[in-house]
Formats: sequence, structure tokens, C-alpha cells
Amino acid sequence: MEPMNDAMELFRHQRAVRAFSDRAVTDDAIDQILQAAIHGPSGSNTQPWHFIVVRDQAVKDQLSDAYEEGIREAYGDATPARGADRQPLSAAPVLIVPCVDTPPSNRAGFQTGASIYPNIQNLMLAARALGLGTVLTTLHRRRKERVHEILAIPEGIESAAIIPLGWPTRTYGPNRRPPLANFVMQDRWRS
Ligand SMILES: Cc1cc2nc3c(=O)[nH]c(=O)nc-3n(C[C@H](O)[C@H](O)[C@H](O)COP(=O)(O)O)c2cc1C
Repeated sequence: MEPMNDAMELFRHQRAVRAFSDRAVTDDAIDQILQAAIHGPSGSNTQPWHFIVVRDQAVKDQLSDAYEEGIREAYGDATPARGADRQPLSAAPVLIVPCVDTPPSNRAGFQTGASIYPNIQNLMLAARALGLGTVLTTLHRRRKERVHEILAIPEGIESAAIIPLGWPTRTYGPNRRPPLANFVMQDRWRS
């Protein structure tokens, strides 16, 4: 995909990308993307983020297997087929695993998620601005214990997503959404 610098266009052109070429992703690109992530907000400005950048093929393979099990558990016979547009996670040059602190006294909830998913969105938009593809995946959560063991994530930390990152194998058109009016109300709820 071509790089994109116009922010208003960027939102429309961010797509879920699940297939990547062999082209390497530079450390500089990853730094830029993670810089964007840490400039996002967090509750009380606690900045409770950790980003695990996975390039080791053996680790990617293990994460990919756990994720595929999660998909099969979630979708059963309707599991989306692997193909040109859906490679296994292990095929991406880089996997980024954004994690967030969870105080033991505090079960992970809205506030926890709200302090990591905006950062993940920044990360994905920055990647798209550079012409790189990503997709927010969360189904590894169905194999959370195994994934945390693979990555040696300590107690009190939650993994929020696994984000494959790489150069897309094709171009993608803008994302499609229904008209804005379908989602918006004025002054109070109206059904
Ligand atoms: C909370 C959440 C969880 C998601 N989990 C997955 C996932 O596990 N695997 C996956 O391939 N895509 C996942 N997605 C990506 C969505 O399928 C994608 O954002 C949606 O289809 C829109 O794609 P588009 O922007 O290209 O139109 C997830 C998205 C969100 C917001």
C-alpha cells in the first residue's frame, strides 16, 4: 500500500490486513509505530503499557498455533479459511503484543482496556500511514494462559491483542461503513 499522510483519509483507508509479503519491516518503522502508540492516552495518565515485538520464528509459530485454536473454538465450522488473504499469524514478519498493567486488586475491565486500545489504534494508524498493514486480533485470549507462558508475561499483566505487522501482498480500497446517521443520535437516546 502507498504511504498516507492525510489524517482524515487515513481513518478511511485503515483496513484489516491478514496477509503479508516477505519484505522486512525495519526497526525504524517499528520505532515510529510504537512512538505513536505511547502518545495515546491512558487513565490518570498512568501509561501502563508494554509492547512485546516478536520476530523469533519459533515464538511466532507457537503464538500462531494458540491463536488458531482460539479461532476454531470461536467459529467452529465457520472458521474463516486460510488463503491468499488470511495467512497464519506466523507468516507475518513481526507480531506486536500490546500488554497492560492490571493491579491485583483490580480486575481487568473497561478502564483497563481503555488504557491500551487507544494506543493500539494509534499503532495501527501509524503503520498504515507508512504503508504497512495490521489487524487487531484478540482471539488468542481464549488460550491466554498458554500465550502468557510462551511470552513469559508476568502475573498482573494482560495481553490485549496480537497485531501482525508487515507489507501487504496487495492494495486495499477504503473500508466500508454504513452511513454515519445510522450510529448517531442528537441530545438523547432514540430508538
Ligand atoms: C475487538 C476486536 C477484536 C478483533 N479480533 C479479531 C481477531 O481475533 N482476528 C481477526 O482476524 N480480526 C479481528 N478483528 C478485526 C475485525 O475483524 C476488523 O476490524 C473488521 O472486520 C473491520 O475490517 P475493515 O476495517 O477492513 O473493514 C477484531 C477487531 C476488534 C475491534
